[in-house]
Amino acid sequence: MGAMRLDGRAIAAEIQEGLAKDVADLRAGGVQPTLAVVLVGDDPASHSYVRGKMKVAEKLGIGSRDHLLPGFTSQKELLDLVARLNADPAVHGILVQLPLPGQIDERMVLEAIDPRKDVDGFHPFNLGSLLQGGTPMPPCTPAGCMELIRRAGVDLTGKEAVVVGRSEIVGKPVSIMLLAAHATVTICHSRTRDLAEVCRRADVLVVAVGRPRLITPDHVREGAVVIDVGVNRVGDKLVGDVDYAAVAEKAAAITPVPRGVGPMTITMLMKNTLTAARMASRP
Ligand SMILES: NC(=O)c1ccc[n+]([C@@H]2O[C@H](COP(=O)([O-])OP(=O)(O)OC[C@H]3O[C@@H](n4cnc5c(N)ncnc54)[C@H](OP(=O)(O)O)[C@@H]3O)[C@@H](O)[C@H]2O)c1
Repeated sequence: MGAMRLDGRAIAAEIQEGLAKDVADLRAGGVQPTLAVVLVGDDPASHSYVRGKMKVAEKLGIGSRDHLLPGFTSQKELLDLVARLNADPAVHGILVQLPLPGQIDERMVLEAIDPRKDVDGFHPFNLGSLLQGGTPMPPCTPAGCMELIRRAGVDLTGKEAVVVGRSEIVGKPVSIMLLAAHATVTICHSRTRDLAEVCRRADVLVVAVGRPRLITPDHVREGAVVIDVGVNRVGDKLVGDVDYAAVAEKAAAITPVPRGVGPMTITMLMKNTLTAARMASRP
């Protein structure tokens, strides 16, 4: 059959065009949307993610400030910085790049961020709001997945959605969003009995595990929409959790890796930054 390729990069570019216009409007009204990015330590992958985010911010006219702290930074120093950024009216969004070094309690840091500046959407207030029917600041990767599903032309009402993975940053929140869109949702994880059988129920299959090519055609119903969140380095290549070439023969639509969910995640981060700037500038 040959699936439709859900080109995250192209879709992200289209959304970013709209965001750039919104940024220009805000700037014309005297508000410079600004994102503060905090990075602790010298993990090369984290540095590369942060560079990617700042590059897109700049392209859209969003101001960005980077706070690059050494790996030995103490919890108190980091909390002090978060408090300063919370109090700074020129900063609308605060992103603390994860993972943090072992001496720092990640949860405590995320909870210290003002929920109105929590552009990653990981603060318990925003996750709680998501559970209670919606938040202006949804977590970025799940929001990106939902946008891709919408763009695939899927009406989720009454559909079977299966999510593989139950992490707090992807699996759990995307399950809640699918539920809110009236899908019948099943969440799988490492203890799921017969993963392939459960996945084959899916009209929409979202996979966020972190295992290269875990999902094969055996897991996929003919005509399903497949969203592959996984990013795995195999040799010098990035691959997803889904065996793309084989599954594309069976699926109706599928996201590639790279250039699928990744660019959507960054775009949703920019959208949240704009939302935060708008909320802050309202009287
Ligand atoms: N593109 C993006 O923007 C983006 C953003 C975030 C993450 N990612 C990628 O997405 C992947 C998942 O990230 P994450 O942070 O959600 O990962 P995570 O916190 O490690 O969670 C992985 C989940 O997969 C489940 N799992 C592990 N092995 C399994 C198996 N054999 N069968 C079924 N489920 C299994 C785990 O189950 P248990 O709960 O039972 O352990 C867990 O719930 C990673 O590759 C990550 O790099 C991409």
